[in-house]
Amino acid sequence: MKNEKILILGACGQIGVELTLALRQTYGNDNVIATDIREEHPLLHGTGPYVVLNAMDAAATHELIKKEAITQIYLLAALLSATGEKDPKRAWDINMQSLLQVLDLGVQEKLHKIYWPSSIAVFGPTTPRDNTPQQTIVEPRTVYGISKYAGELWCQYYNQRWGLDVRSLRYPGLISWKSEPGGGTTDYAVEIYHEALKNGSYTSFLSENTYLPMMYMDDAIRGTIELMEAPADKIKSRMAYNISAMSFSPKEIAAAIKYHIPDFRMDYAPDFRQQIADGWPKSIDDRAARGDWGWQHEFDLNRMTNEMLKHLKEKMQLA
Ligand code: SER
Repeated sequence: MKNEKILILGACGQIGVELTLALRQTYGNDNVIATDIREEHPLLHGTGPYVVLNAMDAAATHELIKKEAITQIYLLAALLSATGEKDPKRAWDINMQSLLQVLDLGVQEKLHKIYWPSSIAVFGPTTPRDNTPQQTIVEPRTVYGISKYAGELWCQYYNQRWGLDVRSLRYPGLISWKSEPGGGTTDYAVEIYHEALKNGSYTSFLSENTYLPMMYMDDAIRGTIELMEAPADKIKSRMAYNISAMSFSPKEIAAAIKYHIPDFRMDYAPDFRQQIADGWPKSIDDRAARGDWGWQHEFDLNRMTNEMLKHLKEKMQLA
């Protein structure tokens, strides 16, 4: 099973850095080729092969697949919800073109498996917002959400039409201390820890009672690898699986931080991201993932807050 050669597109983003490091531990450093349009992320430096590659460049991607005898691709390059709204056409082009190219290359080169992340952003204001089911009304209102939902349908299409083994998860907001988030509506829940340690205060761009589904990065990475290693017959959905861990509001995360930093002060100044958040689920029903391939989360808000503050404190002292 470990005899795989993996290509990561978008390895320097919030998920990419940690997923690359985890896959290198599982599959061996030289068997995971990290690529991104950017310079190598400092945390990847010295941990394995790195190539500067634009995920939109089909020819260069194809060449690398052949040269390295790649058997699996993780496509993580994308524009997220908040950045996407600033340039919708560009977000659509980047998110869709890179996916369609990878799916085609997957068929052409008979790749074993492809991973592509989806998001809670596929849901919209007409979706039931509490315990949002795996299958429900799906009418996304952001270009990011539209691209993710269209992408899910393409993944299912390539699986049914050409037998391509594509797998996907609908991530909630992801919270990490190693790598930086990149332009999402849920990024406040990462920024808040940095600002709490640096300044003792934070101004949230979402209002105090805005509940969103969230997950600590360790859970997301483990879940992703577990999904990819599950036997194919356990993967009953070839759209993306709902997965969930916790759900909280800015007011609740502020209270969790106050437990450690009693003088922490929180202010609220909602901006355009409030409207995006108001169209997303408050909590997610992930029974399909739990039942089909055994998904389980480990981190709740308090456990994650302990970890975030501990690791960020160490990181800031080193800097
Ligand atoms: N964290 C992402 C965003 O806010 C959701 O997929 O855009």
